[in-house]
Amino acid sequence: MTDIKTIGFIGAGGVNSRFARLSANAGFKVLISNSRGPESLRDIVSELGPRAKAVSIEQVNAADILVYSVPFGNLDKIPVKPFAGKTIIDTTNYYALRDGNISALDNRELTSSEYVQRHFKDSRVVKALHNMDLFHIDNGADRKKEQDKPWAVPMTGDNDDAKKQVTEFIKAIGFEAVDCGSLKESWKIEANTPVYLWPYVGKIPDGLDKEEAMYWYKQDKSATVTRQDLLRLVEQATQDIPVGGHVENAPKPWMDWILYWMNGSQ
Ligand SMILES: NC(=O)c1ccc[n+]([C@@H]2O[C@H](COP(=O)([O-])OP(=O)(O)OC[C@H]3O[C@@H](n4cnc5c(N)ncnc54)[C@H](OP(=O)(O)O)[C@@H]3O)[C@@H](O)[C@H]2O)c1
Repeated sequence: MTDIKTIGFIGAGGVNSRFARLSANAGFKVLISNSRGPESLRDIVSELGPRAKAVSIEQVNAADILVYSVPFGNLDKIPVKPFAGKTIIDTTNYYALRDGNISALDNRELTSSEYVQRHFKDSRVVKALHNMDLFHIDNGADRKKEQDKPWAVPMTGDNDDAKKQVTEFIKAIGFEAVDCGSLKESWKIEANTPVYLWPYVGKIPDGLDKEEAMYWYKQDKSATVTRQDLLRLVEQATQDIPVGGHVENAPKPWMDWILYWMNGSQ
Protein backbone atom coordinates (compact mmCIF):
# COMPACT_ATOMS: atom_id res chain seq x y z
CA MET A 1 0.00 0.00 0.00
CA THR A 2 1.18 3.50 -0.79
CA ASP A 3 0.36 6.39 1.45
CA ILE A 4 -1.39 8.98 -0.68
CA LYS A 5 -3.05 11.80 1.22
CA THR A 6 -2.87 14.82 -1.05
CA ILE A 7 -3.64 15.05 -4.75
CA GLY A 8 -2.21 17.95 -6.75
CA PHE A 9 -3.90 19.24 -9.89
CA ILE A 10 -2.09 20.99 -12.72
CA GLY A 11 -5.00 22.55 -14.60
CA ALA A 12 -8.45 23.18 -13.20
CA GLY A 13 -10.67 22.93 -16.26
CA GLY A 14 -13.31 20.45 -17.33
CA VAL A 15 -11.32 17.33 -16.53
CA ASN A 16 -9.41 18.32 -13.41
CA SER A 17 -12.32 20.08 -11.72
CA ARG A 18 -14.09 16.73 -11.89
CA PHE A 19 -11.19 14.64 -10.65
CA ALA A 20 -10.59 17.21 -7.91
CA ARG A 21 -14.20 16.85 -6.77
CA LEU A 22 -13.98 13.05 -6.81
CA SER A 23 -10.72 13.28 -4.85
CA ALA A 24 -12.13 15.60 -2.18
CA ASN A 25 -15.22 13.38 -1.90
CA ALA A 26 -12.95 10.37 -1.44
CA GLY A 27 -11.25 12.08 1.52
CA PHE A 28 -8.04 13.31 -0.11
CA LYS A 29 -6.65 16.79 0.38
CA VAL A 30 -6.60 18.71 -2.88
CA LEU A 31 -4.09 21.28 -4.16
CA ILE A 32 -5.34 22.84 -7.37
CA SER A 33 -3.66 25.22 -9.83
CA ASN A 34 -4.24 26.80 -13.21
CA SER A 35 -2.69 29.38 -15.53
CA ARG A 36 -4.37 32.43 -13.96
CA GLY A 37 -3.32 31.86 -10.36
CA PRO A 38 -5.02 30.95 -7.06
CA GLU A 39 -7.31 34.01 -6.93
CA SER A 40 -9.12 32.78 -10.02
CA LEU A 41 -9.86 29.44 -8.31
CA ARG A 42 -11.94 30.82 -5.47
CA ASP A 43 -15.25 29.43 -6.76
CA ILE A 44 -13.98 25.95 -7.39
CA VAL A 45 -12.22 25.79 -4.03
CA SER A 46 -15.34 26.85 -2.19
CA GLU A 47 -17.29 24.22 -4.12
CA LEU A 48 -14.70 21.54 -3.27
CA GLY A 49 -14.86 22.32 0.44
CA PRO A 50 -12.34 22.53 3.28
CA ARG A 51 -10.03 19.81 1.97
CA ALA A 52 -9.14 21.92 -1.09
CA LYS A 53 -6.66 24.74 -1.48
CA ALA A 54 -5.78 26.86 -4.52
CA VAL A 55 -2.03 27.18 -5.04
CA SER A 56 0.46 28.33 -7.67
CA ILE A 57 1.47 25.70 -10.18
CA GLU A 58 4.89 25.33 -8.49
CA GLN A 59 3.25 24.70 -5.10
CA VAL A 60 1.32 21.72 -6.44
CA ASN A 61 4.54 19.76 -5.91
CA ALA A 62 3.68 19.45 -2.20
CA ALA A 63 1.10 16.79 -3.16
CA ASP A 64 1.80 13.05 -3.07
CA ILE A 65 0.62 12.48 -6.63
CA LEU A 66 -0.27 14.88 -9.45
CA VAL A 67 -3.00 14.93 -12.08
CA TYR A 68 -2.01 16.81 -15.23
CA SER A 69 -4.81 18.10 -17.43
CA VAL A 70 -3.86 21.07 -19.57
CA PRO A 71 -4.46 21.45 -23.33
CA PHE A 72 -1.81 19.38 -25.08
CA GLY A 73 -0.31 22.33 -26.95
CA ASN A 74 0.50 24.14 -23.67
CA LEU A 75 2.89 21.48 -22.38
CA ASP A 76 5.99 23.60 -23.09
CA LYS A 77 4.68 26.32 -20.75
CA ILE A 78 4.52 24.01 -17.74
CA PRO A 79 7.54 24.09 -15.39
CA VAL A 80 9.51 20.89 -15.07
CA LYS A 81 11.79 21.22 -12.04
CA PRO A 82 9.13 21.45 -9.30
CA PHE A 83 7.78 18.04 -10.28
CA ALA A 84 11.03 16.07 -10.24
CA GLY A 85 10.54 12.68 -8.60
CA LYS A 86 6.74 12.99 -8.58
CA THR A 87 4.19 10.65 -10.10
CA ILE A 88 2.15 12.54 -12.70
CA ILE A 89 -1.07 11.14 -14.14
CA ASP A 90 -1.23 12.32 -17.74
CA THR A 91 -4.89 12.71 -18.68
CA THR A 92 -4.17 14.61 -21.88
CA ASN A 93 -5.02 13.71 -25.45
CA TYR A 94 -3.43 14.96 -28.63
CA TYR A 95 -5.85 16.42 -31.16
CA ALA A 96 -3.84 17.96 -34.02
CA LEU A 97 -6.91 19.94 -35.11
CA ARG A 98 -7.04 21.66 -31.73
CA ASP A 99 -3.43 21.45 -30.50
CA GLY A 100 -1.47 21.98 -33.74
CA ASN A 101 0.55 19.28 -35.48
CA ILE A 102 3.48 17.76 -33.58
CA SER A 103 5.63 15.80 -36.02
CA ALA A 104 7.13 13.41 -33.43
CA LEU A 105 3.58 12.27 -32.68
CA ASP A 106 2.28 12.33 -36.25
CA ASN A 107 5.28 10.19 -37.32
CA ARG A 108 4.78 7.80 -34.39
CA GLU A 109 8.30 8.49 -33.08
CA LEU A 110 6.72 9.01 -29.66
CA THR A 111 3.37 8.27 -28.11
CA SER A 112 1.62 11.31 -26.66
CA SER A 113 2.51 10.28 -23.10
CA GLU A 114 6.16 9.62 -24.04
CA TYR A 115 6.11 13.20 -25.30
CA VAL A 116 4.71 14.35 -21.93
CA GLN A 117 7.30 12.18 -20.12
CA ARG A 118 10.06 13.77 -22.22
CA HIS A 119 8.93 17.16 -20.91
CA PHE A 120 8.64 16.04 -17.26
CA LYS A 121 11.97 14.30 -17.61
CA ASP A 122 12.61 13.61 -13.91
CA SER A 123 9.02 12.68 -13.03
CA ARG A 124 7.19 9.36 -13.33
CA VAL A 125 4.45 9.83 -15.91
CA VAL A 126 1.52 7.41 -15.94
CA LYS A 127 -1.09 7.71 -18.67
CA ALA A 128 -4.61 7.24 -17.28
CA LEU A 129 -8.01 8.87 -16.86
CA HIS A 130 -7.85 10.28 -20.39
CA ASN A 131 -10.45 8.15 -22.14
CA MET A 132 -13.82 9.09 -20.63
CA ASP A 133 -15.68 12.26 -21.53
CA LEU A 134 -16.60 14.75 -18.82
CA PHE A 135 -20.08 13.40 -18.20
CA HIS A 136 -18.97 9.82 -18.06
CA ILE A 137 -16.24 10.67 -15.54
CA ASP A 138 -18.97 11.80 -13.14
CA ASN A 139 -21.42 9.11 -14.15
CA GLY A 140 -18.84 6.35 -13.86
CA ALA A 141 -17.97 7.37 -10.31
CA ASP A 142 -21.71 7.47 -9.42
CA ARG A 143 -22.17 4.07 -10.98
CA LYS A 144 -19.47 2.62 -8.75
CA LYS A 145 -21.28 3.95 -5.67
CA GLU A 146 -24.60 2.55 -6.84
CA GLN A 147 -23.55 -0.82 -8.20
CA ASP A 148 -20.05 -1.48 -6.93
CA LYS A 149 -19.04 -2.61 -10.42
CA PRO A 150 -16.46 0.00 -11.34
CA TRP A 151 -15.65 0.77 -14.93
CA ALA A 152 -12.22 -0.50 -15.90
CA VAL A 153 -9.90 2.22 -17.24
CA PRO A 154 -6.55 1.74 -18.99
CA MET A 155 -3.23 2.80 -17.49
CA THR A 156 0.29 2.73 -18.94
CA GLY A 157 3.63 3.78 -17.49
CA ASP A 158 7.27 2.87 -17.13
CA ASN A 159 7.54 2.80 -13.34
CA ASP A 160 5.82 0.07 -11.33
CA ASP A 161 5.73 2.02 -8.06
CA ALA A 162 4.10 4.96 -9.82
CA LYS A 163 1.54 2.62 -11.39
CA LYS A 164 0.77 1.20 -7.92
CA GLN A 165 0.10 4.70 -6.60
CA VAL A 166 -2.12 5.51 -9.57
CA THR A 167 -4.01 2.23 -9.22
CA GLU A 168 -4.75 3.04 -5.59
CA PHE A 169 -5.88 6.58 -6.39
CA ILE A 170 -8.09 5.45 -9.27
CA LYS A 171 -9.73 2.84 -7.05
CA ALA A 172 -10.40 5.45 -4.36
CA ILE A 173 -12.25 7.72 -6.81
CA GLY A 174 -14.40 4.93 -8.19
CA PHE A 175 -12.73 3.17 -11.14
CA GLU A 176 -10.52 0.13 -11.69
CA ALA A 177 -7.13 0.74 -13.29
CA VAL A 178 -5.93 -1.94 -15.70
CA ASP A 179 -2.22 -2.06 -16.49
CA CYS A 180 -1.82 -1.90 -20.28
CA GLY A 181 1.96 -1.78 -20.41
CA SER A 182 4.59 0.89 -20.97
CA LEU A 183 4.33 4.45 -22.25
CA LYS A 184 5.69 3.18 -25.58
CA GLU A 185 2.70 0.84 -25.79
CA SER A 186 0.25 3.58 -24.90
CA TRP A 187 -0.59 4.21 -28.57
CA LYS A 188 -3.04 1.33 -28.00
CA ILE A 189 -5.09 3.46 -25.60
CA GLU A 190 -4.75 6.91 -27.17
CA ALA A 191 -7.55 9.04 -28.55
CA ASN A 192 -9.39 7.37 -31.41
CA THR A 193 -8.49 3.79 -30.44
CA PRO A 194 -11.21 1.23 -29.57
CA VAL A 195 -10.89 1.89 -25.83
CA TYR A 196 -11.43 5.65 -26.20
CA LEU A 197 -14.72 7.25 -25.05
CA TRP A 198 -17.33 5.07 -26.68
CA PRO A 199 -17.05 1.88 -24.58
CA TYR A 200 -18.35 3.94 -21.64
CA VAL A 201 -21.36 5.21 -23.56
CA GLY A 202 -24.45 3.03 -23.47
CA LYS A 203 -26.80 2.31 -26.32
CA ILE A 204 -28.89 5.37 -27.06
CA PRO A 205 -32.63 4.59 -26.82
CA ASP A 206 -34.50 4.73 -30.14
CA GLY A 207 -36.62 7.71 -31.10
CA LEU A 208 -34.94 10.54 -29.16
CA ASP A 209 -34.50 13.95 -30.81
CA LYS A 210 -31.12 15.70 -30.53
CA GLU A 211 -31.95 17.51 -27.30
CA GLU A 212 -33.35 14.38 -25.66
CA ALA A 213 -30.32 12.45 -26.83
CA MET A 214 -27.98 14.99 -25.21
CA TYR A 215 -29.94 14.85 -21.98
CA TRP A 216 -29.73 11.08 -22.02
CA TYR A 217 -26.01 11.21 -22.81
CA LYS A 218 -25.22 13.51 -19.89
CA GLN A 219 -26.78 11.08 -17.41
CA ASP A 220 -25.84 7.83 -19.07
CA LYS A 221 -24.04 5.20 -17.01
CA SER A 222 -25.57 2.14 -18.59
CA ALA A 223 -22.46 0.63 -20.20
CA THR A 224 -20.45 -2.16 -18.63
CA VAL A 225 -16.66 -2.09 -19.00
CA THR A 226 -14.95 -4.92 -17.16
CA ARG A 227 -11.23 -5.60 -17.02
CA GLN A 228 -11.70 -8.35 -19.64
CA ASP A 229 -13.71 -6.02 -21.92
CA LEU A 230 -11.02 -3.42 -21.62
CA LEU A 231 -8.12 -5.76 -22.39
CA ARG A 232 -10.01 -7.05 -25.43
CA LEU A 233 -10.52 -3.49 -26.71
CA VAL A 234 -6.88 -2.58 -26.16
CA GLU A 235 -5.77 -5.61 -28.19
CA GLN A 236 -8.03 -4.47 -31.06
CA ALA A 237 -5.95 -1.29 -31.55
CA THR A 238 -3.85 -1.22 -34.71
CA GLN A 239 -1.42 1.30 -36.11
CA ASP A 240 -3.73 1.77 -39.09
CA ILE A 241 -5.76 3.97 -36.76
CA PRO A 242 -4.68 7.59 -37.39
CA VAL A 243 -2.65 9.23 -34.60
CA GLY A 244 -4.55 11.55 -32.26
CA GLY A 245 -8.19 12.41 -31.81
CA HIS A 246 -10.36 12.61 -34.90
CA VAL A 247 -13.84 13.91 -34.29
CA GLU A 248 -15.08 12.69 -37.63
CA ASN A 249 -15.00 9.15 -36.25
CA ALA A 250 -17.54 9.91 -33.53
CA PRO A 251 -20.82 8.05 -33.82
CA LYS A 252 -23.83 10.24 -34.50
CA PRO A 253 -25.48 12.09 -32.75
CA TRP A 254 -22.46 13.02 -30.67
CA MET A 255 -20.67 14.98 -33.38
CA ASP A 256 -22.28 18.30 -32.42
CA TRP A 257 -21.35 17.82 -28.80
CA ILE A 258 -17.78 16.90 -29.65
CA LEU A 259 -17.34 19.95 -31.87
CA TYR A 260 -18.72 22.05 -29.03
CA TRP A 261 -16.18 20.44 -26.69
CA MET A 262 -13.34 20.86 -29.19
CA ASN A 263 -14.08 24.57 -29.25
CA GLY A 264 -13.44 24.64 -25.51
CA SER A 265 -17.00 25.50 -24.56
CA GLN A 266 -18.02 22.78 -22.13
N1 LIG B 1 -12.84 17.33 -22.03
C1 LIG B 1 -12.85 16.00 -21.91
O1 LIG B 1 -13.88 15.32 -21.99
C2 LIG B 1 -11.54 15.29 -21.71
C3 LIG B 1 -11.54 14.02 -21.16
C4 LIG B 1 -10.33 13.39 -20.92
C5 LIG B 1 -9.15 14.04 -21.25
N2 LIG B 1 -9.17 15.27 -21.81
C6 LIG B 1 -7.88 15.96 -22.12
O2 LIG B 1 -7.47 16.68 -20.96
C7 LIG B 1 -6.79 17.89 -21.34
C8 LIG B 1 -7.46 19.08 -20.68
O3 LIG B 1 -8.81 19.11 -21.07
P1 LIG B 1 -9.89 20.01 -20.31
O4 LIG B 1 -11.17 19.70 -21.01
O5 LIG B 1 -9.80 19.86 -18.86
O6 LIG B 1 -9.37 21.48 -20.72
P2 LIG B 1 -9.89 22.89 -20.17
O7 LIG B 1 -11.26 22.79 -19.63
O8 LIG B 1 -9.62 23.85 -21.28
O9 LIG B 1 -8.91 23.22 -18.94
C9 LIG B 1 -7.56 23.41 -19.13
C10 LIG B 1 -6.92 23.85 -17.83
O10 LIG B 1 -5.52 23.97 -18.09
C11 LIG B 1 -5.07 25.19 -17.53
N3 LIG B 1 -3.89 25.67 -18.23
C12 LIG B 1 -3.77 25.99 -19.54
N4 LIG B 1 -2.53 26.42 -19.79
C13 LIG B 1 -1.86 26.38 -18.61
C14 LIG B 1 -0.56 26.74 -18.20
N5 LIG B 1 0.33 27.20 -19.10
N6 LIG B 1 -0.21 26.61 -16.89
C15 LIG B 1 -1.10 26.12 -15.99
N7 LIG B 1 -2.36 25.77 -16.31
C16 LIG B 1 -2.73 25.90 -17.61
C17 LIG B 1 -6.23 26.15 -17.69
O11 LIG B 1 -6.02 27.24 -16.81
P3 LIG B 1 -7.10 28.42 -16.64
O12 LIG B 1 -8.18 27.84 -15.76
O13 LIG B 1 -6.33 29.50 -15.97
O14 LIG B 1 -7.57 28.75 -18.02
C18 LIG B 1 -7.40 25.23 -17.34
O15 LIG B 1 -7.60 25.21 -15.96
C19 LIG B 1 -6.81 17.90 -22.88
O16 LIG B 1 -5.62 17.35 -23.38
C20 LIG B 1 -7.98 16.99 -23.23
O17 LIG B 1 -7.86 16.39 -24.50
C21 LIG B 1 -10.35 15.93 -22.02
